[in-house]
Amino acid sequence: TPGLPLDMIIFGGMGDLAVRKLLPALYMAHLHGNLPPGTRIVSTGRQEFDRAAYLAFVEEKSRPFITDANFAEEAWRGFLQLLEFVRVDVQQDDLTALAAASRAGAERVFYLATAPSLFTTICDKLAAAGLVDRHARVVLEKPLGRDLASAVEINEAVGRHFEESQIYRIDHYLGKETVQNLMVLRFGNSILEPLWRAPNISSVQITVAEEVGVGSRAGFYDSAGAMRDMVQNHLLQLLCIVAMEPPTSLAPDAVRDEKLKVLRSLRRFNLASIARDTVRGQYTRGVSGNQEVQGYLEEPNVPADSATETFVALRAFIDTWRWSKVPFYLRTGKRMARRSSKIVIEFANPPFSLFPEYQHGGAANRLVIELQPEEAIKLQLMAKEPGSGMHMQQVALNLDLQSAFSQRRAEAYERLLIDVVRGRLTHFMRRDELEAAWEWADPIIDGWSTLAEHPRPYAAGTWGPAESFALLARDGASWVA
Ligand code: BG6
Repeated sequence: TPGLPLDMIIFGGMGDLAVRKLLPALYMAHLHGNLPPGTRIVSTGRQEFDRAAYLAFVEEKSRPFITDANFAEEAWRGFLQLLEFVRVDVQQDDLTALAAASRAGAERVFYLATAPSLFTTICDKLAAAGLVDRHARVVLEKPLGRDLASAVEINEAVGRHFEESQIYRIDHYLGKETVQNLMVLRFGNSILEPLWRAPNISSVQITVAEEVGVGSRAGFYDSAGAMRDMVQNHLLQLLCIVAMEPPTSLAPDAVRDEKLKVLRSLRRFNLASIARDTVRGQYTRGVSGNQEVQGYLEEPNVPADSATETFVALRAFIDTWRWSKVPFYLRTGKRMARRSSKIVIEFANPPFSLFPEYQHGGAANRLVIELQPEEAIKLQLMAKEPGSGMHMQQVALNLDLQSAFSQRRAEAYERLLIDVVRGRLTHFMRRDELEAAWEWADPIIDGWSTLAEHPRPYAAGTWGPAESFALLARDGASWVA
């Protein structure tokens, strides 16, 4: 709201997310003049810190996450001036100290970067301290529950004090430049849309591969696994953007209504389709980035008999006219051969081939949308190989987005934080979307536990278990590396 000063209040201000992502993103927003004048950032934490100690902490912990190219001494000093610290233990204390630190009449954004088990308490106490008014906004970090029931519980608790239009559920993939560009690719062009359906499209692949392992996050990760950590949110959001009908506008509900329809049309899994169409994996010792790395079970804080998956591949279907019988192959994993996120749209082969001598693997035409680390859009076409005879080769029209645009690319968190500040909800998940995603994921997770199968081992630094390749091979398809 123009005219009102902004207080950005971070719960979990000493946590990993705040230190590595939020504060650097807020610094970048400040550097580029994207924070309203008079903004203050109030971090909270349990530590016995005063402001000076907190600033020293930020200097030590957050500053390394700002690249040299983006670091400007004066802007950094200016940014530190915006920071306050309020010591609160949200489990013990009421929030009067915070209320005293927040300016009367300020527009308040509460960023809950804590364990979700604290969300209810925090919201209740914010309300009790009189901090929630109609200008207030609350940002919720994932994991937003571990199943439908716990997600509903969080939504109910937050919903007691905030209207849906005040709630910003973050999925940072929706803040990525390339993911937002997917909307433009689909709906800013007219040549793709007529082809964007069955039977012109024969399959869709969505891969989010990470090179990193679980690192120091086993405490959280081991009780979640790749399905809850990545598929239920990031991969499903990508799937929604690929599969949704054209929204009538970019208004938050217009976009979110269409995504919701996709989630609700996802075919439900049962034990038979779980056994047939899903693969869980867990990495073992291997070589990643030229280094010997340990297996998941040897990682710190992972129980030696953990059956948590660090890899998932599955074949999903969307039961709509547009996507009838088109398999959506999703896969994600840690400790894969390299970091690579991409979406591959495979188009149907020509109904009759004039050029039978060419043995190509997979589709003749593919649209490959590379999300990270490279940002590119490639259209694979068949072309004639020079020479006598009619020999074909697959070649790509290649749009390198990095060189097409020279502008700076903001990190996902910076872009999303600016959206929160400006009150733009389009790139955040609505309550029903979140719940629909869990409704689809729950039976898979439950089914896995009923089937009691241990995840398939795969060596760190590879593309996952053999069963993942077999899943596509059965359909005559293969993963595009
Ligand atoms: C997070 C997951 O949501 O996304 C992490 O909790 C994962 O496990 C991360 O590493 C991946 O995000 P990005 O932006 O690095 O692809």
